[in-house]
Amino acid sequence: MPSPKAPQPPPSTLSTPELIPGLAGIPAAESSISFIDGQEGILAYRGHRIEVLAEHSTFEETTYLLWNACLPTQAELDAFKIELTAHYHLPDELLAALRALPAGGHPMAALQAMMPMLRMVSPVCNLKDPVSRHETSLRVLAAMPILIAAFERVRRGKEIIAPDPELSVAGNFLWCLNGEKPDAIEERILDCALVLHAEHTMNASTFACRVVASTETDAYTAVSGAVGTLFGPLHGGANERVLEQLEAIGGAENAQAWFQAQVAKKAKVMGMGHRVYKTKDPRARALQLLAKELFEARGTTELYATALELEKIAAEVFGARGIWPNVDFFSGIVYQKLGIPTDVFTPIFALARTAGWLAHWREQMRDNKLFRPGQIYTGVHDATWVPIEDR
Ligand code: SDX
Repeated sequence: MPSPKAPQPPPSTLSTPELIPGLAGIPAAESSISFIDGQEGILAYRGHRIEVLAEHSTFEETTYLLWNACLPTQAELDAFKIELTAHYHLPDELLAALRALPAGGHPMAALQAMMPMLRMVSPVCNLKDPVSRHETSLRVLAAMPILIAAFERVRRGKEIIAPDPELSVAGNFLWCLNGEKPDAIEERILDCALVLHAEHTMNASTFACRVVASTETDAYTAVSGAVGTLFGPLHGGANERVLEQLEAIGGAENAQAWFQAQVAKKAKVMGMGHRVYKTKDPRARALQLLAKELFEARGTTELYATALELEKIAAEVFGARGIWPNVDFFSGIVYQKLGIPTDVFTPIFALARTAGWLAHWREQMRDNKLFRPGQIYTGVHDATWVPIEDR
């Protein structure tokens, strides 16, 4: 029973700020961690262009750069790796909790659930102490690849494989996932993919991480919120859907008809478009080169041919609208060629982006202000209470 004509809200004495849907382009913080020029297709971490880092750096070195705002000396990098691998071993009670998770659940749901549990078995972080913040950062990042690989093994009915502190983050992930030491090409390609996915200014999951962190909760809770945000198909979950999309097309010869049908029903083409990039995502370019190198070394896949044909067809229609391949368009075909299950693609994105999320958490904690935006109220005022028997 609608209430009687709602009283009109009093004329606002303040000029009504304009609502920007999705806060598109609205600065939420000052940050010196990374920079994007969406028109020119530029991405840089602490001023270093992503193409240079992809070619010359490693995930560990890039993480050090993101966290410390400078490249490490060899001694600093060696020490950082030792610090990180010192946290590879996870407590048995944590792994027991992981074994109890529903095996049919999505690995991203498992990862999000494990973050608060990691907090339960870790020392309390003193948010005001940079040393304590660093220790917590190491614990969170070190645990990520091990938890992702362990859940994959458990849900397949296999034993969890103990991490090897001699291996890099990328190498250790492949070792814990497959039980085989990765060869040099596989390890380097995954390591490069982790560098490319590590950080990306104020994307949805990083914003979520900073909002949660601003309440002065802990990094585990902030990263758990970020994992849940990344899971969405409009964000990190797109890489999994791109592979499903390419498989559904069923070959390059079908790409034109498939694309026309998508456009006709105004359906999204996954792996394309971006809130900031209005040209091809520089990470898509780099991942395409990785795919090319991997397929030349290991044999191509039909999905790569389909992806190239879809990209060409889409450019003719979407290009003028600034809709181009993004980071998710080629990543899945690389991961599939590395033998990684499709629903583990987004967890790999989360593993890489944990470096960026923690860089933002540390930055937020250095000069924290609780996030509490406003709203434009569109409801009623002074509603009349009607007893239920009279409604
Ligand atoms: C990531 O922000 C980041 O930095 C994210 C990320 C990171 O590293 O953290 O880069 C990672 O999330 C990459 C994006 C992965 N998502 C996808 O690939 C899903 C498909 N893409 C779209 O959903 C879309 O492009 C978004 C969500 C990514 C961005 O869209 P916007 O900026 O919110 O713009 P919009 O959805 O309002 O689209 C504007 C127009 C619409 O058409 P109209 O209603 O104006 O007619 O462009 C169309 C959209 O329909 N459009 C697309 C499209 N993307 C935009 N149409 C078809 N296919 C697409 N992919």
